[in-house]
Amino acid sequence: MNTHVTRRNFLTAAGTAALATSASTAQAAETRGEGTLRILGIACSPRKGMSTSKAVQAALDAAKAVSPRIEVEMIDLGGLNIAGWSPKPVPDDFELILPKLKDPQFAGLIIGSPSYFRSLSALCKAFIERCMPLREGAMPLANKPVGALAVAGNRNGGQELIIQQILTAMLSYGMVPVGGNSPAMLGGTLWSAKDDVTQDEIGLQSAKLLGTHVAEVALLLGRKP
Ligand SMILES: Cc1cc2nc3c(=O)[nH]c(=O)nc-3n(C[C@H](O)[C@H](O)[C@H](O)COP(=O)(O)O)c2cc1C
Repeated sequence: MNTHVTRRNFLTAAGTAALATSASTAQAAETRGEGTLRILGIACSPRKGMSTSKAVQAALDAAKAVSPRIEVEMIDLGGLNIAGWSPKPVPDDFELILPKLKDPQFAGLIIGSPSYFRSLSALCKAFIERCMPLREGAMPLANKPVGALAVAGNRNGGQELIIQQILTAMLSYGMVPVGGNSPAMLGGTLWSAKDDVTQDEIGLQSAKLLGTHVAEVALLLGRKP
């Protein structure tokens, strides 16, 4: 038998063993119902990277901090071309989003909208309408938590109305609406005075409390029996 161990084949063997160990650890975690839970943040301002996007990101960062099982992904709809539902659909950027909502690791949603005339943005409504295919068959959104936040130019600019509109609509997909942890019981309510949401400490805190609660509920609902 050749007992000569070169540095190269020792490292190769060690690497293979490490990979096998990490694969079996991941498999064991999966068996225990401890696989990855991915929370998607949907920022529904046509202005990419602006206040709504920053608020959703704050919520996602808080969600991620809850557990190593939680993964987060931001989907900023700003700049994307997404039309409302139509009986004669024309292909658009929603095709990029739909597979993410059907992914088995998908475990929760945080939807953020700017306040437009004390209502959700047209882009937010279009996103919600285009989820229509997800009401069929296995209904991949069902029994997963959804939280909402709204950003307005005025302190009292319709934020609570918009959160209610979003959560009510998502009930149609079988989602479980959740608010934030106390005192942000309804969700994230943010004020972007002069286009700067970073000055609204209380509002940003409400977004974080929302992210934390969505993650906590995702962990509860994502637990395998
Ligand atoms: C068409 C339009 C309607 C708006 N309506 C309201 C409103 O009803 N109440 C309010 O407080 N702010 C209103 N705003 C201000 C936006 O809610 C605010 O600028 C918000 O931060 C925009 O989000 P963004 O920075 O992510 O684009 C409106 C802005 C636009 C463009």
